[in-house]
Amino acid sequence: MIFTDACKGKKTPYTPVWMMRQAGRYLPEYMKVREKAGNFLNLCHTPELAAEVTLQPVDIVGVDAAILFSDILVVPNEMGMKLDFIKGEGPVFEKPVKSIDDVDTLTGGKEAADKLTYVYKTIKITREKLDPQKALIGFSGAPWTLATYMVEGQGTKTYNVVKKLIYTNPKLMHHLLQKVSDVVKLYLENQILSGVNVVQIFDSWAAALEKSAYMEFSWKYIKDICSYIKAKYPDTPIIVFPKGIGAYLDDIDGDFDVFGVDWSTPMALAKEKLGSRYVLQGNMEPCRLYSKEATKEHVTSIANTMKEGRHIFNLGHGILPDVPVENAKYFVSLCQEITKK
Ligand code: CP3
Repeated sequence: MIFTDACKGKKTPYTPVWMMRQAGRYLPEYMKVREKAGNFLNLCHTPELAAEVTLQPVDIVGVDAAILFSDILVVPNEMGMKLDFIKGEGPVFEKPVKSIDDVDTLTGGKEAADKLTYVYKTIKITREKLDPQKALIGFSGAPWTLATYMVEGQGTKTYNVVKKLIYTNPKLMHHLLQKVSDVVKLYLENQILSGVNVVQIFDSWAAALEKSAYMEFSWKYIKDICSYIKAKYPDTPIIVFPKGIGAYLDDIDGDFDVFGVDWSTPMALAKEKLGSRYVLQGNMEPCRLYSKEATKEHVTSIANTMKEGRHIFNLGHGILPDVPVENAKYFVSLCQEITKK
């Protein structure tokens, strides 16, 4: 499998490519299936339909890996937090976590991980239908990013509610992060047992924290999850994606295979700091997809920086809903062509 070989740093006939949020609203075929499901959460909960949209970008755009269609927030949802996706506003939890009692009331460990049966079923159906040469990527949110939503109750620009907890009640925050981490470990393990070939940990809100707080409240838990998975499944590559921490790269270590570089971190800097220890994934600025010229310029420059290999092409964050499908196809085929050996 080209994709898993690339994750392990082996030589491949070309550099494989996929896009974060590749199954989504920019595809008219996705919108049709979502309509059939009724809404986004129903789509996540219906394995046959979730598998269908997981496979769409492989067939339509030509990416080298499929990523499981789900959402990071199904984990806190199955820990007992009622979740809604409100049009135009995004995800909202009805009762955010405020106290130690709230954390203790959440379902934890195996009981929570075992409730995510619809995810495991989606993986099984997808793996059966997916081209055996293409990888299926499973994923979870990092404990910090999940906890941010659980405490804030919704997306935030300032992170003041969750950061107030960090500085006024770190014990509560660690209690929550530990509980979430224990579920994430079993959740990723169950995904591997169901058939995913690679797992990615999304830490979308990494950049909300100063360096010392990031290491203590996020990276420590990511490392712990990676060690747990690596000890049991040494052959399954792990990708980490802490978004926006280009200034903290000197402190990054741990038992994972691929480091996802976000669009704000220069690829050459990531290569200098991490390239000898980890394969790098990324990092085209997603808004360049609005222009083929801008796409070509960045793909060429990334390919040049990474010409020795140890690279997986991706965007530096998710694809946006109003990107023309044709431009996404252009990006994918250009990455594959330009790196052909
Ligand atoms: O990458 C993929 O194609 C796989 C599917 C996937 C989704 N969400 C589908 C989705 C993945 C890997 C995620 C992860 C996710 N979800 C993250 C981490 C990645 C990142 O982008 O930083 C985060 C922070 C979330 C939480 C979340 N889910 C938000 C903030 C939103 C609303 C924002 C928006 O774009 O409207 C979602 C909804 C969501 N998750 C959609 C999709 C396709 C849009 C739902 C729709 O169809 O309307």
